[in-house]
Amino acid sequence: MVERKKDAEGQTGLVMSYEDSCNRIPTLWIHGFPLNNLLWDLQVDGLAHMARLITPDLRGHGLTEPSEPPCSMKGFADDCAQLLDHLGIEGPVVVAGLSMGGYVALEFYRRYPESVAGLILAATRAGADSEEARLARDAAAATATAEGIAPIVEGMLPKLMAPNTYGEQPDLGEFVEEMMMQTSTEGMVGALAAMRDRADSTPHLDKIKVPCLVLHGEEDQLIPLSEARLMQESIEGAELVVVPGAGHLPNLEQPELFNEAVLVWLEQFYE
Ligand code: MLT
Repeated sequence: MVERKKDAEGQTGLVMSYEDSCNRIPTLWIHGFPLNNLLWDLQVDGLAHMARLITPDLRGHGLTEPSEPPCSMKGFADDCAQLLDHLGIEGPVVVAGLSMGGYVALEFYRRYPESVAGLILAATRAGADSEEARLARDAAAATATAEGIAPIVEGMLPKLMAPNTYGEQPDLGEFVEEMMMQTSTEGMVGALAAMRDRADSTPHLDKIKVPCLVLHGEEDQLIPLSEARLMQESIEGAELVVVPGAGHLPNLEQPELFNEAVLVWLEQFYE
């Protein structure tokens, strides 16, 4: 069962939107930039028999209200922790994040290690922004502030998926574009600042002591596969699954392959 809810106020006063599939081991799914929890619809369909999926919209994304920029990874992680508290989830959960969601997941683990049973890091990286990337975040924020989010969405869209996905699944391109366009300008500007200022998680990778699944599209144009390999090599016992025929959104481009990898990996929590 999936319900769409607008939640009551948490400690920060944030009204946070989320879906909760209410079944078995709790798993928290954190979307990327500038997306929202619709990103995980095919995971809710394919995994809900095995796991409880909680899929928040981060501040300013989807149905969650924006807050004054800048946002931070710490703030995003705290929002997620408060949502779990609100749902009365006391035991550790599997935390999954795609791209920016992976940055949040790594921050969540640093802040709340005892609340994490396992990590799924999809299409993401551990490193911080280079100086050049930080300047590009500021330029994107200035554009979004002056002209709205459309130019940023248009610039990102052709790079989000594997080149063949656009021709083979034209509806998916439209779906992703519509999802991105639901982001508020404040949400986009806030998230750009959060990504610009995020900590380098690389020195923390060998401190991760929970099972970890690294998933990456073979043709990711935004984050190279080498970043996934680096995480897998640095996190003790981590598994890497490379998804063929997928770019930066492997869970949408190749949902069967993505879900199968997650289902197999989740089995360890039932042994
Ligand atoms: C994302 O997909 O969340 C972003 O492209 C990640 C980033 O820009 O670093």
